[in-house]
This record gives sequence, C-alpha cells and structure tokens, in this order.
Amino acid sequence: MVVAQHTIPVAHPIIGEEEIDAVVAVMRSGNLVQGRVVEDFERRFADIIGVRHAVAVSSGTAALHIAMLALGIGPGDEVITTPFSFVATGNAVLYTGARPVFVDIRADDFCIDPDLIESAITSRTRAILPVHLYGQAADMRAIQIIAQRHGLPIIEDAAQAHAASIDGRNVGTFGLGCFSFYATKNVMTAEGGAITTDDDALANRLRMLRAHGAPTRYRHEILGFNYRMTDLHAAIGLVQLNRLEDLTRQRITNADYLNSRIHNVVTPRAKQGRRHVYHQYTIRVRTERDQAARILAECGVGSGVHYPIPIHQQPLYRQLGYVDSLPVAEQASREVLSLPVHPALDRQDLDRIVAAVSRLPG
Ligand SMILES: Cc1ncc(COP(=O)(O)O)c(C=O)c1O
Repeated sequence: MVVAQHTIPVAHPIIGEEEIDAVVAVMRSGNLVQGRVVEDFERRFADIIGVRHAVAVSSGTAALHIAMLALGIGPGDEVITTPFSFVATGNAVLYTGARPVFVDIRADDFCIDPDLIESAITSRTRAILPVHLYGQAADMRAIQIIAQRHGLPIIEDAAQAHAASIDGRNVGTFGLGCFSFYATKNVMTAEGGAITTDDDALANRLRMLRAHGAPTRYRHEILGFNYRMTDLHAAIGLVQLNRLEDLTRQRITNADYLNSRIHNVVTPRAKQGRRHVYHQYTIRVRTERDQAARILAECGVGSGVHYPIPIHQQPLYRQLGYVDSLPVAEQASREVLSLPVHPALDRQDLDRIVAAVSRLPG
C-alpha cells in the first residue's frame, strides 16, 4: 500500500500572524497607497543593505527598468548581462529601447563570467548588469575593476540575493541594487521591489520615475510610470525585514545539512568569501532531468527548473535576432534542478530530500 504523504513544496512563503496584523492595521488606517509605511520600509531596507537610499517600487522588474532609465540608458545603447536568469533581466533592458548583450556564465557559480566581459564591451556599452543568481553574489570585485577601467556603471540584479555579501559587503552596494520582494523571495511583500543607492541625485530621479515623473503632486517633469509600492505591501515587508537574518540563517543551515549528506550529484557551494543566501538550492543532474524530477515527486519532494531556456534562446529573443552560442549557460539550462531549501523545512523534510536525491543517477 502506498502511504500518501504531503509533497514538500520547492517554495513556501512564510506568513505569520504579525504580517496579517500589519496588513489589517493598514486597512484600518484607511491609507492604503504609498505613504508612511513605504517610507519606513525604505528606511529599514536601506539600513540593512548599508546604503543611504532604498527606493521602493511595485516589482523587481520595475526596479531594473527605472534603474536603467535613471542612468540615461535608451535606444542605441547596449547593456552587458547574463543569459542565465529570469527573463525580466533581459526584458528590462529591452523596455528602455537598449539591447542586452549576453555574456556566458561560470559553471561553478552560475553568474556572469568576468573574464568574458571586456571582449563584449563596445562604444555603445552603457552598463554592466550582473545577476546574483540563486542567492550567490557574482564576482563583483572582478566586475568592478572592469567597470572602473571603462567608466561604466553597474546595475546589480539582486532579486534573489537579499543579505548576500562578499567579504562582509552586501550586494546592492556595488552599483544600483535592484531587489525583488515577489511572494517566494527570501523576504517578500507579495509583489514588490526596491533600488538601493548612495547617490542622492539618482535616488531623486528614481523617486520621480516611479511616480509619473512628479517631484511634487501634479507637477510632471519627466516621463515616469506608476511603479509605486503600496502601504499594504510595505507592511508585510517591514515584518519580513525583521525576520530577514533568521530566515537567511535557516536557509544556510538547511543548505549545509543537504550539502553534508548529498554526494551523488553536484551540489551548490558558497565561493570563498561570499555569503550564499540560498534563494534556490540548485543541483546539477547530468542525465534525464525530467525523470529525476519524477523520482523526486514520487518521494514527495517538489523541485523546479530555474531556468529551462536561457534568455538568448527564448522565442522572443530568437525573433529579435539573437543567435549567440553560450555553451556554459546552455548546459546549465539542461542540467539544473532546484530542491526545497526554504526556512519552513524541518529535519524530517530535509532527510526526505536527502533520501529522494540518493535515488537519482549521478
Ligand atoms: C533574477 C531575477 N531578476 C528579476 C526578477 C523580477 O522580479 P519581479 O518578479 O519582482 O518583477 C526576478 C524575480 O522573479 C528574478 O529572479
């Protein structure tokens, strides 16, 4: 007889009574849209990251879009980025009228390979956009050297990397930091995003861009958007930010537990000096990934593929004329499989994941 058991989901938003109470309090206040709670959320997030400004917006995609606009990026420009990311990274470049130029990744951290960036720089290059994929920082020291040498700004896609760091320095402080607070992120506001910066002028511009280009009500100086965050969302986020360090430590503890017990497949590793915050715990499955996912599912273990098609090979990008060959990213797309690592897992869940993975071919 097969004993039915619950499936461990690959992602699991943590919502406690405190988040619920905070939302109800905003509802009762009658002030639902962007107001004081958003300001408090921005202040708290800026303090955590270690910057002067956090500008809250409606999504991580919106954060990337207006970060580029604030830097003056537009038609005819190029932005160097990674093909191995959620499609929003490339799309946000397209929104501005600029062209994403994809550079292959490193096999061991899934992030843009700094050794390949310089040969992709042209007279049209306006920025470098690394992604801290799965919660591990890209090699920012190497990227900073290249950016400085060529006078290029850095935009960090830190959507998956709240509180990830390099030698104690948080991501989001190396350039314009773009974060997502989508429901399954390490901390969330249901939907939401933020841009972090020390630059007062850029912060002002970002604040205008998120609200129809208006520095004051009904005075519109530039073409902006409605990318505001609401107080309802910020209320969830404020509670979540209080939990950020605990939630992050739990993810790292879970990943360490899995790493110490899984030996038959390639497991993720934090690189020297980098704090990996394990938004995803992603293994490589060399053969028959679909079958591997089925085996895990039979054992009651959910899994996910992030991402099955690299951005340059997406149908949209094919239509736009992208014919690049980026073998490391393409191989990763065929092999990666993310397992549950979220803070809601208990010891039994972790042991079930280990047992399920031991049934996979190496
Ligand atoms: C790497 C990456 N970039 C950008 C985004 C876009 O964030 P959002 O879904 O909040 O628009 C996401 C989130 O899904 C992401 O994972």
